[in-house]
Amino acid sequence: MREVHAFAPGKLILAGEHAVVYGYRAVALAVSLGTTVRLCERPGPSAVDASEIKDSRLWPALSTVVPKEGVGVHIASTLPVGCGMGSSAALAVATVRAVARWEGREASFEECFEKAFVIERVFHGTPSGIDHTVSALGGVVVYRRGAGGPELEQLTLSRPLFLVVVDTGPPEKSTAEMVAGVRERAPTEELSAIGALVEQVVVVLKAGGEVGPLLDQNHRLLQKIGVSTPVLDDAVAQLWQAGASGAKLAGAGGGGVVFGLLTEVQQQPVVEGLLRDGFRAWAVQAG
Ligand code: MEV
Repeated sequence: MREVHAFAPGKLILAGEHAVVYGYRAVALAVSLGTTVRLCERPGPSAVDASEIKDSRLWPALSTVVPKEGVGVHIASTLPVGCGMGSSAALAVATVRAVARWEGREASFEECFEKAFVIERVFHGTPSGIDHTVSALGGVVVYRRGAGGPELEQLTLSRPLFLVVVDTGPPEKSTAEMVAGVRERAPTEELSAIGALVEQVVVVLKAGGEVGPLLDQNHRLLQKIGVSTPVLDDAVAQLWQAGASGAKLAGAGGGGVVFGLLTEVQQQPVVEGLLRDGFRAWAVQAG
């Protein structure tokens, strides 16, 4: 039986979520958790044959790239779904890659970008495109959306970042609803402040300096634009208590993940402590 598979990683937004929707730059990094899509021969119309993702938008999204007949889609993911770690983007990029392999070729970045964007729009309405871009490129990416295509800068960090990610559980609202809420409140000053902060983060990352305090400022601005919650704020406070030099929510907010910046020595004990307290937590390294 014919079978192909492809993997794509999830992401964390280091700084700049929400503001990126309005044309400011944001910094994101690919994580090692991700999604594998396997395509197998199946009689009759194509369909999703196995998936932990129970979402009515799943087939409408994937059918934009999967051939109409004869393909069974199997999805396996190590990412928490809908929690700010780019699970839909990883699914989108992995599917585009798998379909290209099904056709006997490898998908280029351009193909991944265009086709995964179509899938992402089915899931999220009008996403900025940062999630699937970093999933397709890997590494650390500075992203700006643009009418004529994205503006991208791939960053080489002068020293690695050691992060601890904590999942506070799925948000009550979707990314599209969180983005729509910010649009309604129109906090233009705060969004522009986030945009300015991202530029500082990029400079400090390139210089190998300490970005923790800038991430704290980013979290406070995300509180101001109304996308944090008491649960997210508590998780951020817990990371500070554990010794994080900076911590923030990541993604659309309303729930989902927060992360803290730690040292290499602190990283594993902090993850183990959080696991003992019943949280889902991961160590992530960038650079
Ligand atoms: C979602 O991961 C990040 C947001 O900025 C939305 C987007 O960029 O499309 C909240």
